[in-house]
Amino acid sequence: MNTTTNTTRRDFIKTTSMGAVTLGLGGILPQFSAASYGQIAGANKRVRVAVIGVNSRGGALASNFANQTDFEVACICDVDTRAIAKCAKTIGAKTKKTPETHQDFRRALEDKDIDAIVIATPDHWHTPAALLALQAGKHVYLEKPVSHNPHEGEMLIEAAKRHGKVVQIGTQRRSWPNVVEAIRQVQSGVIGKVHFGKGWYANNRPSIGRGRVAAVPGWLDWNLWQGPAPRTAFRDNIIHYNWHWFWHWGTAESLNNGTHMIDLLCWGMNLKYPTKVSSLGGRYYYQDDWETPDTQIATFTFGNRATLTWEGHSCNPKPIEGSSAGVIFYGDAGSLYISGGNDYKIYDPKGKVIKQVKNEVAIDPTNTVSPAQKLDAIHILNFLDGIRDGAPLNMTVEAGHQCTLLMQLANISLRTGTTLNTDPSTGRILGNPEAQRHWTREYEPGWEPKI
Ligand SMILES: NC(=O)c1ccc[n+]([C@@H]2O[C@H](COP(=O)([O-])OP(=O)(O)OC[C@H]3O[C@@H](n4cnc5c(N)ncnc54)[C@H](O)[C@@H]3O)[C@@H](O)[C@H]2O)c1
Repeated sequence: MNTTTNTTRRDFIKTTSMGAVTLGLGGILPQFSAASYGQIAGANKRVRVAVIGVNSRGGALASNFANQTDFEVACICDVDTRAIAKCAKTIGAKTKKTPETHQDFRRALEDKDIDAIVIATPDHWHTPAALLALQAGKHVYLEKPVSHNPHEGEMLIEAAKRHGKVVQIGTQRRSWPNVVEAIRQVQSGVIGKVHFGKGWYANNRPSIGRGRVAAVPGWLDWNLWQGPAPRTAFRDNIIHYNWHWFWHWGTAESLNNGTHMIDLLCWGMNLKYPTKVSSLGGRYYYQDDWETPDTQIATFTFGNRATLTWEGHSCNPKPIEGSSAGVIFYGDAGSLYISGGNDYKIYDPKGKVIKQVKNEVAIDPTNTVSPAQKLDAIHILNFLDGIRDGAPLNMTVEAGHQCTLLMQLANISLRTGTTLNTDPSTGRILGNPEAQRHWTREYEPGWEPKI
């Protein structure tokens, strides 16, 4: 391990963040790029990663990890052989070295030369795959949401402690310099005491229609795709991506996008678990197989300290405050708005903008899976520092569980039509056996996750 080069890179990251503070309106340093990190990183032994689930987000992560000199994308795994071929080709062209490929990711776990696993599968596989990786002695970069149900999140926290490996969660805004700076402003009282925060997401997702039972395509291992989820017949409108809208595998827009925003609110306002959660909404826009709400409002109360709300509009893209995703902190001496990007604005109590910090890192709007690659690289390098130096992670598994759990509680409230009373020290549901039933799920026999 070369501590000098790592220290240098960390100092650079620190300086970059502080640059944003001192530059004020200027945002983060314009010369910042993944390539810059590459030059600073030096020639340490590279951390060899296997990326699991590469159709979309995982493919972008594989490219981003491959951009970092200190990582080697040594292995690509997917149950879809087409996704493997496409991603392996991209990585091979980028690195001039063809990665290993497996349709069954458990073969990568057996490989002693793999140090870390990057998981970007559908949500029902998140915790189960992470637990298998930890048991195999691998570090884990896990996409949000941490889990499919609250019990899994608690298991993952326990497993991360037990196996002593680094687990970082893919809520990458935790590492974006201007977002970090905005949160510090809220925490340091720049807008006074904050008692209310709201987050939102808007999109114009089309109908997914009515699926039909169909023959499993030759390119797909449907049994392994389902993994821990009880078996169902293959239908032709689930794969890829549409699984998000089925409770059996997905977790709704609230965990797909809300997790990012509720995390920012809890982080800024130093909130952990609520005392009450309530959520309403439904599938209103189309009559099709989509089960989760396309319109949802969730409210979280934290004793007499604060209230948070989150609004999801999956089928009406009208921006709120000019942005399709974002958060606002309402304080007694002003308000602070983060657009969902690497920027923020502070308003005085009369609503006048008194400070604006803009993003200056190139964001590619044509890349819908990873528009902010260069910013996401900071999160990836923080994972590297965690592995190599034991550096603190910007997003821990505990914080990942917390924001995931809040949205899971919102979904449980919506699905049971009840307001949940929750224990503020654990987030667990008090009373309400019907709601408590959703704390875990039914698993396919033989596929139950274990610590
Ligand atoms: N952090 C972010 O900003 C961000 C952005 C997009 C997606 N995501 C997360 O990434 C995850 C993937 O989302 P997506 O949009 O790429 O979904 P997707 O359906 O397009 O891709 C999922 C991939 O996982 C593969 N897969 C399924 N089961 C597998 C298994 N057992 N082993 C190996 N591969 C398996 C599928 O074949 C597919 O290629 C989701 O959990 C989502 O929440 C995060």
